[in-house]
Amino acid sequence: MTTPLTPQEAISTTELRAVVEIACRAPSLHNSQPWRWVFENGVLHLYADHGRVGHHTDITGNEVLLSCGAALNHLRVAAAAAGWQTSVDRFPTPKNHDHLAAIAFRRTAEVSAHDRELREAILRRRTDRLPFAAPEPWSKTERELSALCHHFAVDMDVIDDSGRPALADASRQNEQHRRDDASYRYELLWWTHHGDSSVGIPPAALASSAEASRVDVARDFPAYTSGDRAPQVERDRSKILVLSTFDDSRPNVLSCGEALSRVLLACTAAGLATCPLTHMMELHSGREAVRRLTGRHAQPQVLVRVGRSVDDVSPAANTQRRPISDTLEVL
Ligand SMILES: Cc1cc2nc3c(=O)[nH]c(=O)nc-3n(C[C@H](O)[C@H](O)[C@H](O)COP(=O)(O)O)c2cc1C
Repeated sequence: MTTPLTPQEAISTTELRAVVEIACRAPSLHNSQPWRWVFENGVLHLYADHGRVGHHTDITGNEVLLSCGAALNHLRVAAAAAGWQTSVDRFPTPKNHDHLAAIAFRRTAEVSAHDRELREAILRRRTDRLPFAAPEPWSKTERELSALCHHFAVDMDVIDDSGRPALADASRQNEQHRRDDASYRYELLWWTHHGDSSVGIPPAALASSAEASRVDVARDFPAYTSGDRAPQVERDRSKILVLSTFDDSRPNVLSCGEALSRVLLACTAAGLATCPLTHMMELHSGREAVRRLTGRHAQPQVLVRVGRSVDDVSPAANTQRRPISDTLEVL
């Protein structure tokens, strides 16, 4: 039996709000932020909100889980940096599959420099869709990222130079295939041309046609801007990671979202730029092409482009988030 916390030991609503606000900086499919938080009796509950994501894009619902997994890990990082250790009970209500986690908080004696560094990375991280310079030196980074994924029971592969043309080909075919899918195109336009700036992807966060033409593995977004913010990068030299799970079970996909957050933050902390990609996971043929390249039986869930950005990070390019009052309910 756990001893009840005294009011001095329990996280206050003000502290909790601050932590959740940082967690909501997590990446999500098209910045849909498909999560809902409820704070009750000192425990924070995370729910998936499938209604926020277009069903012609995220056909399986996996991308909602990946996004929520990323928010869950971001939350744990933000809590640790604020002096709170978290313990997480995943899928605590067997009859409610959307109740993803119940998170309890305990005050820690000290905050490590590493906790602070990861919290800073949350605030700096953004999805970068420009061509990247190579992330050299790479081997040590690859080993570290792979170990981080392993901790979440997620396999990480890096598509090497010999596999890159096949991946680029499959990515192009994937996007070609979807040009005639009116429902998918409608959702894409909706999320990239949004009247409400607190959701969706702002035009400045997308690549111009000139920039996009030099990134061989990417979702085909509409281009709203012109110009070239990375003229010195003749073609994208990123490394492409594939994160895969044993199967598509909800716990494994959620865990992959947690690993995704961890990988993105480690890269950001190391000064590397990142772009998560799921367009190929949304069609059977694209996913199979990725799986063949990894040589695994495991299910690919997300690709991550990792490289060096040559663009000056402009805060204006940061995507907005919904107000915390929309996503957090305190009971
Ligand atoms: C599950 C998931 C899928 C995503 N898929 C793509 C994608 O296919 N292409 C892309 O450019 N960005 C993708 N993103 C990045 C989101 O568009 C991005 O996180 C969101 O717009 C918020 O912007 P930020 O990451 O800069 O904060 C994805 C993110 C997540 C978590």
